[in-house]
Amino acid sequence: MNIGIFDSGLGGLLITKSMIKKLPQYNYVYLGDTKRVPYGNRSAETIYEFLKDSVEYLLKQNCKLVIVACNTASAQALRKIQQDFLPSNYPDRKVLGVIIPACEVALENKQAKNIGVLATVATVASNAFVIELKKIKPNTKVLQKAAPLLVPFVENDELGFINPILENYLKSFKGKIDTLILGCTHFPMLQYRIQKIIGPEVRIISQNKLIPKKLKTYLNNHPEIEKVLSKEGIYKLNVTDLTDTISKTVTKWFGQNIKVVQIDL
Ligand code: DGL
Repeated sequence: MNIGIFDSGLGGLLITKSMIKKLPQYNYVYLGDTKRVPYGNRSAETIYEFLKDSVEYLLKQNCKLVIVACNTASAQALRKIQQDFLPSNYPDRKVLGVIIPACEVALENKQAKNIGVLATVATVASNAFVIELKKIKPNTKVLQKAAPLLVPFVENDELGFINPILENYLKSFKGKIDTLILGCTHFPMLQYRIQKIIGPEVRIISQNKLIPKKLKTYLNNHPEIEKVLSKEGIYKLNVTDLTDTISKTVTKWFGQNIKVVQIDL
């Protein structure tokens, strides 16, 4: 069986690439909902509807485990998938998100007290990061900033114009945080620029580094899941809309000439 990775667009390819680097033996099926990206400014109902379609597609592709790499979907719709959809439709499968692991890693450092979260409008509105951080360490101070303009720039690979926008988004964090969570699949592409603006003293938490490590631990702790995973190192990339720009971006980010297939949900 396969490991599925879902994102609203192409940003999740960054996590997929790190996942394949750390755990190359497994078979991965990636799904980017490029037809409907961005999710970040949509309602909870729409995000749930979109996520359910995509998760169902991945489960039909024989995925034992689906990682919802998209923070917006993890924040707004994952719980409903886990509590309502899975038990009655696919009780033997797992769907996991990326918010709790990022919060755990942010608070691993005992000095971490003031956490910044940079994310989409929907993720910020859900308060999911605030809730999860405070569950782990109740006196944590959390400062959130919605950054809706960044995803289209990253998705279109137009980073030349992004610095003034980033500076504007990051100014409310300056001098106020010790840790910054990049709460969106696309932001690891901007990590270097963000670090330069926010300063070297702020620890940046990037999911594309931590999720593969967490998955390894998860599989060690769940041998019943690990043992049914196929180990042929087959990687499949699917999108719901395919254009020349998407093909070029996938090749550039993925670092190899991997085939991208357009599928219907
Ligand atoms: N993938 C989304 C996330 O991680 C960002 C893109 C979108 O708005 O759909 O939050």
